[in-house]
Amino acid sequence: NTIYRAGVLGRRPRVPADFAELERRARRASSPVAWAYVAGGAGEGRTMRRNRAAFDRWAIVPRMASGAVERDLSVELLGRRHPTPVLLAPVGAGALMGADSDLKTARAAAATGTTYILSNQGCNPMEDCAAAMGDASRWFQLYWSKDEDMVDSLIARAEAAGAGALVVTLDTTVLGWRPQDLNLGSLPFSRGQGIAQYTSDPRFRRIVAERLGRPSARPQVTLGAIRTLLAMARNHPGGFLANLRSRVPRASVETFLDIYSNAGLSWDHLATLRGRTRLPVVLKGILHPDDARRALDLGADAIVVSNHGGRQVDNAVASLDALITIRDAVGPAPTLLLDSGIRTGADVFTALALGADAVLLGRPYMYGLALAGRPGVEDVIRNIIAELDLTMALTGTPAIPAITRDLLRPDTAT
Ligand code: FNR
Repeated sequence: NTIYRAGVLGRRPRVPADFAELERRARRASSPVAWAYVAGGAGEGRTMRRNRAAFDRWAIVPRMASGAVERDLSVELLGRRHPTPVLLAPVGAGALMGADSDLKTARAAAATGTTYILSNQGCNPMEDCAAAMGDASRWFQLYWSKDEDMVDSLIARAEAAGAGALVVTLDTTVLGWRPQDLNLGSLPFSRGQGIAQYTSDPRFRRIVAERLGRPSARPQVTLGAIRTLLAMARNHPGGFLANLRSRVPRASVETFLDIYSNAGLSWDHLATLRGRTRLPVVLKGILHPDDARRALDLGADAIVVSNHGGRQVDNAVASLDALITIRDAVGPAPTLLLDSGIRTGADVFTALALGADAVLLGRPYMYGLALAGRPGVEDVIRNIIAELDLTMALTGTPAIPAITRDLLRPDTAT
C-alpha cells in the first residue's frame, strides 16, 4: 500500500517496479562479463525461456467480496514462522554486481524479514553476513566438496553462524555449458570471486598450505611458494605487484576449483547428512518425482524444485512444470520450495497455487543490487511482496493457505 501510494503520488522509485525495466537498467549498469555470468543461462537459453513460459500457461481466476481488509502473508517453514513466502536464493560471485554484495544482501534481507540463503560461492564469509543480520533468519547452501573434512567444516561453521537450515545443491556437481561466459573467456571463480567461504575456512587453509608444501603453522619461503608467486605473476594481467596485493592467491583459486564440488556426488553421500548436522536439511535442484521421493525417504526436511535458473541443463523441464509433477507425486505434506523464473508477485501466487510452500528469488535481487546496492535489494523484495499482497487482496485470498489450485485455470490461448 505504501509503495503503491508513493508511486501514485509521483515519487520515483530507486529501482523500476516492473521486471523488464529492472533488467534493462541492471544490464546497463553491469560490465559485459558480469552480465554474461549473472543473466546468462545454459546452452541456447531454452530452459530459461521455458521457466517464464510455464507461468504464462496458467491464468488466475480471481474471487470477489471475501470481506477481508488485511492479508496475512506469513508461512511456517522448517519450524519457523516467516513473514512472507519469499526467500533469497543462494547466489555465488555476487560481487560482480557490486562490492560486498553478500553483506549488502544480508542487511536488505534482515531489514525486510526475508530469509537469505548464503551461498557456498559467497563473496563475504558467512560469519560476516551473520554478524550483519543479527537474529534475522538465514540458511546456508552447501556444494558437496571433494574433501569430506571440508564438508564438515562448512557445516560446523553454518551451525555456529546461526543457519536455520542446510541447503545442499545437487544440480551443480559440474558447471553447465554456459556459452556467454565461454565466449568472453570469463569465469568469476577463476578470478577469485565467490570463494570467500573457502578462503575463510581453517580446513581449506590447511589444504592450501599442504599443497604449497609448507607446514601450516609456520609460513616459510619454499620452492612451492616461489612457484606460486611466479604463477601469480604470469596469470594476472595486472602485473606482479598488483597480484601480490590481490586478496586471493592463485594457489587458493586452483585448490578451490579442484575441490569445491564432488562430481561423483551420490545418494550414499547424502545419506550421511542426517548424522552430520542437527540442522534441517533441504535438497535443492530436484526436478524428477523419483528423486523427490528418494530425497524425502532419506529424511530431507524440504526440497527446492529448481533448474538453477536455467543455468545448468539446456532444454530442461520448466521448474513450475516440475513442481506440479512433484507435488502430485509426494502429496500435500512435504515442504516444497520453488525457484527459477519468479519475477513478480503474480508469479509467486501462481507457484503457491500449484503447490509450492514458498519461493526463492535469484536474479531479480541481483539486479536490485546492481542498480542501488542494499536499498536496491530491499526495493526489489518489497515490490514483489507488495504485488503478491495486492494479488491476494484482489483474488479473495486473505491468507497463504487460501491460495489453492482452483484459483488457476490452464490458459488454452497460449
Ligand atoms: C545462482 N544459483 C546458485 N545456486 C546455488 O545453489 N548456489 C550458488 O552458488 C548459486 N549461484 C548462482 C549465481 C548466479 C549468478 C545465479 C543467477 C544463480 C542458482 C540460484 O540459487 C537459483 O536457483 C536461481 O537463480 C533461481 O532462478 P532465477 O530466479 O534467477 O530465475
